[in-house]
Amino acid sequence: MAFDSNLRYRPYADWSAKEIEQIEENVAKSPWHSTFHIEPKRGLLNDPNGFSYFNGQWHLFYQWFPFGAAHGLKSWVHTVSDDLVHFEATGTVLEPDHPLDSHGMYSGSAMQMDDQLFLFYTGNVRDSDWIRHPYQNGALMDKDGNLIKFDQPLITQPADTTDHFRDPQIFLYNGQYYAIIGGQDLEKKGIIKLYKAVDNDYTNWQEIGNLDFANDRTAYMMECPNLVFVDNKPILLYCPQGLDKSVLDYDNIYPNTYKIGKGFDPEAPAIIEPSALQNLDYGFECYATQGFNAPDGRAFTVSWLGLPDIAYPTDDFDYQGALSLVKELILKDGKLYQYPVDAVKTLRQEALPFSEKMETDNVYELELTISANSQMEIILCADKEGNGLKLNINLQDGLLTLDRSQAGTPYATDFGQTRTCPMNNQDTTLTIFMDKSIFEIFINKGEKVLSGRVFPNADQTGIRLTQGQPEGTFYTLNYGR
Ligand code: FRU
Repeated sequence: MAFDSNLRYRPYADWSAKEIEQIEENVAKSPWHSTFHIEPKRGLLNDPNGFSYFNGQWHLFYQWFPFGAAHGLKSWVHTVSDDLVHFEATGTVLEPDHPLDSHGMYSGSAMQMDDQLFLFYTGNVRDSDWIRHPYQNGALMDKDGNLIKFDQPLITQPADTTDHFRDPQIFLYNGQYYAIIGGQDLEKKGIIKLYKAVDNDYTNWQEIGNLDFANDRTAYMMECPNLVFVDNKPILLYCPQGLDKSVLDYDNIYPNTYKIGKGFDPEAPAIIEPSALQNLDYGFECYATQGFNAPDGRAFTVSWLGLPDIAYPTDDFDYQGALSLVKELILKDGKLYQYPVDAVKTLRQEALPFSEKMETDNVYELELTISANSQMEIILCADKEGNGLKLNINLQDGLLTLDRSQAGTPYATDFGQTRTCPMNNQDTTLTIFMDKSIFEIFINKGEKVLSGRVFPNADQTGIRLTQGQPEGTFYTLNYGR
C-alpha cells in the first residue's frame, strides 16, 4: 500500500474490518516472522516506550501504526512480562484519542507512582496549517490497564527550541524525579533538556536547563535520550540525527550512541567528565534504545531493530519493525557491556556441538570461542552454494566484518552492505541469536554488539564454516507459543 499523509493520518475508526482483514491476510504471507522477538501483528512498530516495573511485572510498550508499513498515526501497544524474555500483549492499545495527542502518541517513558503507572509521553499535534505543537503529556494507568490522560500538558514547547522537542524520560536520582527531553535549539542543533519534578510532584515540572554532556553540536536533533545509572555512573544514551562522521564514524542513516560520565550534577545540569561518544551497536539496525533502572538498581535496555526513513522487505507484507532482546547493562573496567538477561537461556532446547556444516530453521543461539591470533569466517543463513550472511573475524588485524550482500532480499543498500567492528587480539567469545530475520551478535558477552535484520531466501537456512576452527555449542530455541 502506498501511504500519503491522508492515509497515514486517517482516523482509526475509518479503517473497516474488511480492510484490516486484508492487511492481516497479507501479513500472514510473510516468510520472515520472528519467533522470540516482539513484532507488530500488522503495521509498523518503532520505538520501545514506557519500559518499567509495575504491579509485580515488567511493562514494555512500543510505538505502533496499525494499518501498514508507514509512520502514520501512532499508538502505544502494551505488553507485560515476568522474566524480561517472554512478553505478552495485554490487548491494551493506547490510542491518539485526545486533543493533546491528536496526531500521534509519540515516545516516552513510565514510572510506578503509588498503585498506578505514570506515563510521560509526547503528544504530537498538528494545527490546521499543519504546524506541529509537541506537548509533553501525562497519563495514569491502573492495574487493570485503564488509562486516564491528563487534560493539561505537563510541559509545552520551550521558547528556545523548535517544534522538534520530544521523548521525555523520567528517572529517579537520589530520591528526586527528573526528566530529560530531546530537542532542537533555534540554531537547529540537537540538545537535551533536563527537568525536575517540583517537590517530587510528577505533575509539576520545572526546567533546569540544557544538559551539558560535551555536546559536539553537529547533530540537528537528539531523539530518545535516556539516562541510566550503573555503579552510580551515568550512561547517557541518545540518537544524534545528522551527527558529523568526524565526531564518530557510523554507517546507518542515524546512529544510536552513548557517553559514560564520572558523575551527574543535576543542578549544573551536567554529566561530569563525559567519555568520548561511542556507538551502542555496530550492526545494521539499532535505534531509539530505551533504558531504565529497575527498582533493584539493575539497568535494562531494549532497542528498536529498525531505523527511521528506511524501507524494509516486509513492507510488501504490510508490517515492519521488531524489538531487540532485553539487555542488561554493566560496566567492566569502565567499559559498557550489554548482554541479554539470563532468562534468555530458558529458550534453549537441544544443545549440539558446533560443526562446519549445519542445517537449521534460522532460529537458534550459537556460542563460539576463537583463540587469539586466529581468523574465522562463518556464513549464517547460508544456501547450498554458501551464500548468506558472512561474518569474518581477523583477530590479528583486529577487525570483524559482517556482510549481508549475499543474504536474501537486499534493502537500505545506499548505506552499504557491510558493517565492521574493531576487535582486540585475545581469546574471544561470540554469542549469536538468530530468529528468522533478526540477528543479535554479542562479542565477549556484550563488550560489542552487532544487531540487524536479514531477509533470507527460502533455501538460506544453513550455517557454514569457511575459515578457522572455532569451538562451540549450537542451541535450538523455542519461545513456547
Ligand atoms: C524516533 C521517533 C521519536 C518519536 C517517535 C515517533 O524513532 O522519531 O523521536 O517520538 O519516533 O514515532
